[in-house]
Amino acid sequence: MKALVMTKYGDVNNSLAFQEIAKPQINADQVLIKVHAASINPVDYRILRGDAKALMKLNFPAGIGRDVSGVVEAVGDNVTTFAVGDEIFSRVDEPLAGTLAEYVISNAIDSVKKPANLSHEEAASIPLVGITAYQSLIEVAKLKAGEKVLIHAGSGGVGTLAIQLAKSIGAFVATTTSTANVKLVTKLGADQVIDYKKSNYLDQIKDFDVVFDTLGGEYCLDAFKVIKKGGRVISVAGEFDAQITKELGLNCLIRGLLALKARKVVKAAEQKQATYRFVMMAANGKQLAALADLFESKVMTPVIDSVYDFDDSIEALNHLVKGRAKGKIIVKIAD
Ligand SMILES: NC(=O)c1ccc[n+]([C@@H]2O[C@H](COP(=O)([O-])OP(=O)(O)OC[C@H]3O[C@@H](n4cnc5c(N)ncnc54)[C@H](OP(=O)(O)O)[C@@H]3O)[C@@H](O)[C@H]2O)c1
Repeated sequence: MKALVMTKYGDVNNSLAFQEIAKPQINADQVLIKVHAASINPVDYRILRGDAKALMKLNFPAGIGRDVSGVVEAVGDNVTTFAVGDEIFSRVDEPLAGTLAEYVISNAIDSVKKPANLSHEEAASIPLVGITAYQSLIEVAKLKAGEKVLIHAGSGGVGTLAIQLAKSIGAFVATTTSTANVKLVTKLGADQVIDYKKSNYLDQIKDFDVVFDTLGGEYCLDAFKVIKKGGRVISVAGEFDAQITKELGLNCLIRGLLALKARKVVKAAEQKQATYRFVMMAANGKQLAALADLFESKVMTPVIDSVYDFDDSIEALNHLVKGRAKGKIIVKIAD
């Protein structure tokens, strides 16, 4: 089968190649999916760059892509939830990454029937960013109706779904974006839109219950300036907290270095009597099923920046690297 693979650590233009590789073999708890559409995420090029070397070692050639929508081609002996021919979508578990390919494996528990009202391209736009928003806002922040949440980068892959998910709970949503995307985030339901080209969100947001930081760096630390005493800051792009470094089983040296890097954030959290958590999303079929319901009932809607042909996957990744996508970039693999 044809697959885009990572051949070595490096950048998108010098470390990826299309290769003919063997179709992957499923175990008893997995399904083989004929890929119709995949979506790409910053983690794809970050891992390629070697940013996650301390967390996992790659054996090259290695698959790229984590989001898939397609048709079940084969089911493992223990799988009772799906049959050949079912249309499903999934954020494949990390060791199975490789959705930019004609076929990919997913664990049955990480897979969900595709909402009937969505195309494969639309469904593929959801899993990784949708589960990230779910784990950040619902599982960790425990966001409630009436609470005020600031969601950074509301026009990005994570932001576009996070705004909609927070609104579905009944929260008040403020978001940051550039002038060109003000209309988009307003349409998605944001109650307060801060155009970062025209004003500083630090002057406009005060005493919020939750900040969802998808930008990292100064945004992670500055979150503590805008939350109320006892608020919650959740980041998917900022400093690792002690809990995540422990859960990831990092060695003492790396944990020490990360703790040193996070010391300002920890101090800021203490001063505000706030909680700070870094979320590292993980595949989760139950949460994806909850999201599927929200899309099926049209409470949430997919946001697609662009659709590329499989042969243009590297171009698609170059587009993503620029960091200006409005929603998700999709790669169409089959009709
Ligand atoms: N920890 C995890 O498990 C996890 C999971 C998913 C994602 N992430 C991370 O979360 C981050 C966001 O992911 P994503 O998929 O949403 O990325 P993305 O789709 O590439 O984000 C692009 C968007 O970011 C906006 N943006 C860039 N700089 C901004 C700024 N200063 N203020 C407001 N908006 C800004 C851009 O809008 P403008 O053009 O209007 O600026 C654009 O729409 C990435 O760093 C990713 O690696 C982590």
